[in-house]
Amino acid sequence: MDANSLTAEFTLASPAYNVFGEDVKLALSIVYETADRIHLKITDPSITRFEVPTSIFPHPSASRSASSRTMNIQFTYTASSFSFTILHSNSKQVLLTTKGHSLIFEPQYLRLKTDLPKNPNVYGLGEHTNPFRLPESNTTVTLWSRDAYGIPTGSNLYGNHPVYYEHRSSGTHGVFLLNANGMDIKLTQDEAKNSNAALEYNVIGGVLDFYFLAGSTTDPEALPKQYAQIVGLPAEYPYWSFGFQQCRFGYKDYVDVAGVISSYAEAQIPLEVMWTDIDYMDRRRIFTTEPDYFPILRVRKIVDYLNGHDQKYILMTDPAVAYVPSGYPAYDHGKELNIYLKSANGSDEMGVVWPGVTVFPDWFHPNVTQYWNTEFKNFYSPETGIDIDGAWIDMNEPANFCAWPCTDPFAAAIEQDMPPARTNPPPAPDVPIFTNTSASAHRKRDLIDPPYKINNAAGSLSNKTASTNSVHYNNLTEYDTHNLYGTMMSFATHTAMLARRPSKRPFIITRSTFAGAGSQVGKWLGDNLSLWEHYRFSVAGMLGFASVYQVPMVGSDICGFGGNTTETLCARWATLGAFYPFMRNMSHNSDTSNSQEFYRWPTVAEAAKNAIDIRYRLLDYIYTAFHQAHTDGTPVLHPVFFKYSKDPATFGLEHQFFFGDSILVSPVTEENSTSVTFYIPKDRFYDFKMLAPVDGQGSAVTLDNVSFTEIPLHIKSGVVLPLREKSQMTTTLLRKTDFELVVAPTRDGKASGSLYIDDGESIEQPKTTEVEFAYQNGKLDVKGKFGYETGVKVARVRFAGVDKAPKSVKVDGRAVGAKEWSYDSKMKVLDVQVGVEFKKNFSVQFS
Ligand code: NOJ
Repeated sequence: MDANSLTAEFTLASPAYNVFGEDVKLALSIVYETADRIHLKITDPSITRFEVPTSIFPHPSASRSASSRTMNIQFTYTASSFSFTILHSNSKQVLLTTKGHSLIFEPQYLRLKTDLPKNPNVYGLGEHTNPFRLPESNTTVTLWSRDAYGIPTGSNLYGNHPVYYEHRSSGTHGVFLLNANGMDIKLTQDEAKNSNAALEYNVIGGVLDFYFLAGSTTDPEALPKQYAQIVGLPAEYPYWSFGFQQCRFGYKDYVDVAGVISSYAEAQIPLEVMWTDIDYMDRRRIFTTEPDYFPILRVRKIVDYLNGHDQKYILMTDPAVAYVPSGYPAYDHGKELNIYLKSANGSDEMGVVWPGVTVFPDWFHPNVTQYWNTEFKNFYSPETGIDIDGAWIDMNEPANFCAWPCTDPFAAAIEQDMPPARTNPPPAPDVPIFTNTSASAHRKRDLIDPPYKINNAAGSLSNKTASTNSVHYNNLTEYDTHNLYGTMMSFATHTAMLARRPSKRPFIITRSTFAGAGSQVGKWLGDNLSLWEHYRFSVAGMLGFASVYQVPMVGSDICGFGGNTTETLCARWATLGAFYPFMRNMSHNSDTSNSQEFYRWPTVAEAAKNAIDIRYRLLDYIYTAFHQAHTDGTPVLHPVFFKYSKDPATFGLEHQFFFGDSILVSPVTEENSTSVTFYIPKDRFYDFKMLAPVDGQGSAVTLDNVSFTEIPLHIKSGVVLPLREKSQMTTTLLRKTDFELVVAPTRDGKASGSLYIDDGESIEQPKTTEVEFAYQNGKLDVKGKFGYETGVKVARVRFAGVDKAPKSVKVDGRAVGAKEWSYDSKMKVLDVQVGVEFKKNFSVQFS
């Protein structure tokens, strides 16, 4: 042991705790990595067990100065009958303790249990559809990627983020288990006994690799920042990717797609990005186009049209490659490079996905980068294929329509009416290939039916996915790596998009994620349904990703994917969706479902226009928030308790959130209702539209007559908001639009804010504009560096909460004529036309 680390060996009190196999002599290592982070690892030195490879998850480095003496959290342990405790250095509050709960460490079962305070506030452990604050009693969350159509309540979904934040009025801390194996995490609390709560990990492989994060006693947002230091800072995205996007599964042909683009223009609803689902593919084979319905030359015309109108285009790419042994280049190339996942007998693992029988790329294979880069380069190119501005990747759990055991994928494909692939079976391999020692070590485990059964909603682990005994490069098993498939595909796609356009920020949206995915990609919340329940849930789902898992580019399919939406649901969803970082209307066009583009109903069109208008005016504000997130991990969306950490009424708020630091969004939540009851913390807010002050009392308020085209928004006092003066049809035009500043001071008259502007797409930004706003005593100072030429003005400044009409108003010390400012005594707003070129410091003052 030294000041910043400790290693020890210990034996568990086996056989008493020997549940499913043998406990062994274990190695423990503790490193105090930073003042706020302890890295604890328990491994079995006698055997190589799966650990998340550093190529996917680079472990953060430790700071030299961290030591047990300077830590905000501490580790203690008891040697005999081993247990350990993590506690706060000052308050001595216990954050996690295994005391009284036997630790189990077996080849296919790890168990670790900790007590938690009564009625704990625990967030995270997604992806799931539980409330944002997890119910404390009898909740099991299961981490095992799954194609989860309809996002059923209480089931495992697409992604896996084994991290939780626990909030107490005394502080917020976090626990991250870096383990990709399947697991159940159970939260229990015996109501009858009025007992404390407990949290228990039940993991079916890997090692115990924990990061304990001190968080902060005062500022919950310190915690996501600390978490970002482990999983990576969120990616930065192009400006256009914040524009409104439209997609549908079931656009019939290119005429249909073009019609939607024109209809948006006719309806004057800003459409920034058009998407096409697998419909464009020839027999649903990736890297192909359907010759009759989506002929390549016609699709290129669509791309040219879009690009000529400052709009963008995105196409879907699935991982599964149609099994077509000759005449399908994408299959042939993969075969030549030998990059397909292997089944236990060494042949290519097969399944059934959209094109019928398929094989699956093995993202661990060293040739896979060459494969994916080349396919992307050739197919997504303006010369040889179709140029895309961003990528959409899906089905990467990986999904497989063939139920386990998938003994006859050909029959399953025909039965499921997937476009049939050729029926000649793959050649049997000459020799069995997986013969080295670590493969034989794997053999000792039951990879298909392990003794501990996680609560996988699909049933057996291999059902509707690749078989868990299939083998990746270097003898890695699907059993161990399943939960990483989507993230590895994400990273490969990021590399491929970068290879196409090396200087531009890739925009990639995936369905399956693991911890760390947010450093390269964004995510949509999968196949929701057009239900009010799913509209409401989208807030919790999104907050999980944006404020806990550090995947801030997130959104839910607006108006709902499956089923039929209604006019009122779609209208409300348009207004809520404008406050998702990723805003996309998306539906599934089954025979019975209605079209749901925003222009289809007058109310929805109006709701969308209003909401996009506000979103676009706020676009630089949220772009600045993303830049901040990329710089230090500050969340882009905030649950209300992040801002009011001592107010218990905020800890369980499910449907309200802050968009950026300061815009409180409180959507109407009930079907066909025009009223909403929501919480306003004890603080000063301003109504977004009129800027009238609203003094929150820390109580619920009800707003009636919220029309279907509006959403209640409040500005948290203390901020200077940079807004574009008006919205535009594209973000390109928006960037040429003047700014206005809204000064929303606290009750004691202070406000501040910032603005970050760059060219909106390049990875390297030699010239940026970074401005700070500071307001007090009737004076707003705008100061910064103006490296990036905005080419626009600050047209006006509105000061909210001004109690009486000023006598004089000055811009940069010069008095402003009476015509150039006005005062609204009812709303208490002073409106000053400033018209200053936005390229130097300036001030606006009134007295
Ligand atoms: C499943 C995806 O979740 C959905 O969005 C998509 O439309 C279908 N796959 C077809 O590609």
